[in-house]
Order: sequence, then structure tokens, then C-alpha cells
Amino acid sequence: MTAPAGAVGTPRTRLEGREKVTGAARYAVEYPVDRVAYAWPVQSTVVRAQINRVDADTALATPGVLSVLWYANAPRLHDETDHDLFLLQRPEVRFRGQVVALVVAETLEAAREAAGLVRVDYDTLPHSTVLTERHPGLYKPERVNAGYPTDTAIGDFDAGFESAEVRVDHVYRTPAYHNNPMEPHAATAHWLDGRLLAYDSNQGSSRIAQNLAKLFALSPGAVRIINEHVGGGFGSKGYTRCPVVLAAMAARQVDRPVRLALTRQHLFSLVGYRTPTIQRVRLGADADGRIAAFGHDAISQSSTLTEFAEQTATYGRSMYAAPHRRTTHRLARLDVPTPFWMRAPGECPGSFALESALDELALACGVDPVELRIRNDPGADPEDGRPYSTRNLVACLREGTRRFGWSERNPAVGVHRQGRWLVGTGVAGASYPSRAGASTATAQANPDGSYDVGVNATDIGTGARTVLWQIASDALGVAPERVRVRIGDSDLGMAFVAGGSMGTSSWGWAVVKACGKLRDRLRAQPDGRVPDGGLRVREDTTDDLAAQAEQNPYTRYAYGAHFAEVRVDMDSGEIRVGRMLGVYAAGRVVNPTTTRSQLIGGMTMGISMALHEEGLLDSRFGDWVNHDLASYHIAANADIESIDAHWIDEDDPHLNPLGVKGVGEIGIVGTAAAVANAVHHATGVRIRELPVRLDKLLVECSARQA
Ligand code: MOS
Repeated sequence: MTAPAGAVGTPRTRLEGREKVTGAARYAVEYPVDRVAYAWPVQSTVVRAQINRVDADTALATPGVLSVLWYANAPRLHDETDHDLFLLQRPEVRFRGQVVALVVAETLEAAREAAGLVRVDYDTLPHSTVLTERHPGLYKPERVNAGYPTDTAIGDFDAGFESAEVRVDHVYRTPAYHNNPMEPHAATAHWLDGRLLAYDSNQGSSRIAQNLAKLFALSPGAVRIINEHVGGGFGSKGYTRCPVVLAAMAARQVDRPVRLALTRQHLFSLVGYRTPTIQRVRLGADADGRIAAFGHDAISQSSTLTEFAEQTATYGRSMYAAPHRRTTHRLARLDVPTPFWMRAPGECPGSFALESALDELALACGVDPVELRIRNDPGADPEDGRPYSTRNLVACLREGTRRFGWSERNPAVGVHRQGRWLVGTGVAGASYPSRAGASTATAQANPDGSYDVGVNATDIGTGARTVLWQIASDALGVAPERVRVRIGDSDLGMAFVAGGSMGTSSWGWAVVKACGKLRDRLRAQPDGRVPDGGLRVREDTTDDLAAQAEQNPYTRYAYGAHFAEVRVDMDSGEIRVGRMLGVYAAGRVVNPTTTRSQLIGGMTMGISMALHEEGLLDSRFGDWVNHDLASYHIAANADIESIDAHWIDEDDPHLNPLGVKGVGEIGIVGTAAAVANAVHHATGVRIRELPVRLDKLLVECSARQA
């Protein structure tokens, strides 16, 4: 064996970079498939209804059309666990944009043309599509997402809040957001000897393959999903979405492979979005800003199809100290598409409210907002008393303060001018849970001295493939050039999804275990020689995770601090984020190049959330008004000026064999609050309802000119 390679911790560019920039990398609808047909969905034009009749005659008469599927003739599905995936089975319409028919044709153009010719008669029913804090349908779900308790209470919140010297009590609102990955949700489905082969754009095919097997009543091994390259997901591809189910149904119906790629506009109603939130945050503190009572009550929405309860108020549960605390979640089931995971679900919108409220408390107490957060740093988890595996929020705040030049900040509000601009700075904390999910990996030694490592990871643009290659090389103790990594194929075996910032911890754990086992087996070989047919091991981390859950008492989070400098034009109210700095403590960094890219990507999404993104729904027709990238703006290069991410060294032995915490989502936690807090410092206007828009600042800005 050669000496350990030391690949982990060194900057590496993406292994598949060349394939991607030369167009050789294949995405879900780019694999050449013989006799492939094309599907196009027909969406409901009403919100809530019973379908009376589907008239497909004209559509079927269109040259090239092979079939029109609708609830009366579509192949039957066999698993109703997820009502969103029980497609074309029933005559009910539950939201505007629901798929009510599917046209399959020889060409994409014929399918699209014919989809416009399908006539659907509805009996419409009244609908409710707008979330309010007084919605009569509000209820307490049994649990919220990621398995968290719906409500928590420690001490006596009411008494603690009432008797506090300084009280902050405000309602914060975030609108609906749409994920909008570059590659739309898309699939090519192919039935071969009773087996389903699908090229599908998703964030993790293991669970999707299991799900498809159930939907089509197949044996668990009868589905294979390939997702070698995926053009982004942000949560929206975290589980089975409609394209792969519809393509498989259509392929069965016409007995040919079928392709279905959603359009940008389809994505707004068909793949999930982030629920709007209404959040009341109450903070009661002493005059020095030490919090005695913390309350966070979050309201969000789901559809009538599925209970999706975003964990908005969980962020504060472990973040800051306070002896008296209460958090609640309430949900209303509206006649809307089902919300889904998106960019740090829960933590992201929840931290906007809490990190804004902390800024308001800092001002009310006359304490610097960085210092206020340091004063309220808990020694142990304030809800359950468990020790933190590592908690370096304070170190992030201090390092950020130094790098950003925070100490020169004058706390006076609305008075800093640079020519026509009002300038301000803001800060926010960040945290994101560090977890891992069970995965399997294989490692194989070949007689020529090379190694093959396989794990059903998904690289959604993060650099996962590259990072796993680095991890495998070190775990095998060989030069990376001798190691090949295969990912993105459900036949590789069960592995966790690329979600929850858990990819590297989950897959890396299995890879380390498999490679370690292979080394043991090689050492046991006579002369350490690889046998002619190679040597191969498969390892699974299910038991390791169960053992950790039982024996390891820690609360595990990554931490960060976000600093923003904004300027606001006094006449137009135009807002620019001139500088954004994030400092993180996220355990071990496997690849500084891709880590930095993940972090500044998250921060960019945070700026986008602060200033631009807003899903607007018209209650009259119950659907999104802005449903393309022209009218739903996502921060682009021109919106971002100076942006930088740093991290502090952190060695946490209580996580996983790699000591990684995950960096996919923490960049968007608290970021929008840092911007909104900076806007307040610049203008004196507190924006509690995102996005911060120029029309919300104009009156105050012009007053400041006088
Ligand atoms: Mo992420 S929203 O956990 O894919």
C-alpha cells in the first residue's frame, strides 16, 4: 500500500466538470433511447372540482398522438400513501394546475399541441387559497417535518414574558417561494421485461425506486433509476415527483419508452414550493439583553392532499438561552398545491423571524447585536439539556466581527450616507442540524492496482462525486488517481438522499466503512495480493447509526454568522447588498473549493429571499400569478457584489467517522435577516414581511432626505 493520500481537506475541482461544460454529461431526458415517445401534461384550469367528462377525441385525432391518459383509462396505481403521487386515478381536482390528463405522442410538438385540445368539463366548488392567522381551518398537526414535536414548552413563558423589563413582540411574514432548479423535473421511463428503468432527475433514487415499486406493484428490485447528473434540486427533487410516475404510466400505456420534461411554468404548481409563513416572535429580556422568555408561534399551509408541516419554529429551540420558552406550529389545509422541501426547510424562514427579532431586542436594550447573541449563548441545549457536540457560534461571530470590520460600526440608525445612498450593516446567527442517514457502499480492489467505489449518492451540482472520491482515496490509503467512484444508480444499493445537508456525512460514512473493510481483507490476503478476480466488499451503516442514536447524548449542529452591508437609494428606494460575509463552524471541510461554492450559493439564495423572491397568488383563480423566471426573480450575478465565506477549524469527534457537519443549507439560514437588519440600520425601516422591496422603503427614505 502507498502512504495515505491526504486528499481530504485539499481543494479539488469537480471530476465531471469537463463533461458538463462540453455538454457530454447526460441529464434525465438526454439519454438516447430507441422508439421514445413524448408526454405532455394537461393541467386543471380550476381550483377545486369534480371532473364530469374528458373529451380527448380532437387531441387523439392530432397526427402523431399515441394516447391520452386520464383517470378513466390510466394504468392503476397501487399505493395511495402519498396522495400527490396517486396521479390520474380519480375525478377530483384539489388545486389549480393539477395534472388531469396526459398526452403521449411521437414528438414533443404533437404532444404539446394535442394537450391544448383536450377538453375537460368540471363541476367547480368554492375554494380557499390564502393563508391568514385567523383561517378557520388552522389546527395543530401531530408532528412537524423531520419528526420534530409540534409544540414545546419549558418553564413558564407567559409569566417570564410579562415580567421581563424589555419586551419585543412582532409578527414576521415570508411569502411562498419556488425552488426553480436549472434542470426541470424530468424523466425517461422504459419498461424492459417487467422491470422499470427510469432516468430521472432527483436528489436520491433509493427511496424513489422503492416508492415506484409500490406504486406499480413490482418487487423491490424491479425498478432501476439512474441519475448520473442532476441540474439542481434545492429540496424539490428530494422524493418521487410526478414526471417519473407519469412517464412510467405512459410508457406502460403505449408500450414504448416515454420522456417527460416539465417546463419552467409547470414547476410552479407541480413540484412543491415553500409554504408562506406567519410567525409571531416574542422575546422578554433584562435591560442588558439577557433573554428570560422566548416564544415562537409559526403558521403555515399545506394542501388538502397531503399534510406537509414545515418545522418553522424549531430553529429557536436550540439556538439561544432563555429559561422560559414556548414554540408552536399551526397548519391550514388549503386548496393549493402541496408545499415541499426547499433550501433549509424550517430553519430558513424561522431564522428570518427570530434573527430579526433579536436585532429589534438589541436596539431596544441598546446592546450591540453581536454582543447580544454572545450574551445569550447557552452552555447546553436549552430545551433538553444535552451537551453540544461542538458549538462555535460565538467563535463565528467574533471571527466575522474581525473580518467584516464590525467594531467600527456606529449603531445610530438611518444616518450613514455615501452620496445618494443610505448605508447600513446587519448581522444574524445561523445553525443547521448535523445528521446522517443509513447508506451502503461497495469497495473493490482490482489486480491492476485500481479501486472501484460505488455508493448511490446524487450529485445535484454540489461536488458530491468529487468529495466522495477524496474520502475514498484516503480511506483506501491510495493516490486518488487509482480510485474510481460510481454514483447515481439505484442498483448500487440503498443510500440516503442528497438532502438535509446530510450527503457527505451519510455516504461518506458508508464509503469509509467499506474502504476500511476492504483494507482489512487485503491485509489478510497472502502477500497482500489482490486475487485475479478482484476483491469486493459491501458495507451498510444502519447499525452504526442506530448505535450512535442509543449511546451518543449530544445535540449536533453546524453554526454560522452572517454579516451584510446594504445601501439604499434615497430617491428610488433601490436596495443593493454591497458586501456579504459568512463565517461558519461546520466540522471538517473535505473540499474547500466545493464547500465555499455551497456556502456562497446558500448566501446568494438568502439575498434572493431577502430582496427578490415572492410567489404571488391570486385568490380569485387560486394560482400563482408569477410563474416564470421573468416575473419570479432569483438573484443573478448582477444582484451580487462582494460575497465571501470563511470557516473556522473544528474537530468534532461526536458526529461520524469523517467529522463533517454538512454545508448545503446553513448558508441560507439567517441570511435574509442579516440583510433586513442592515436595511433597518440604513433606513430606520423595519421590514417584517419579506421581500424587502423598494416600495416598502420609499416614504421613509425620502423623509430622511429633508
Ligand atoms: Mo434540502 S431542502 O434538504 O434538499
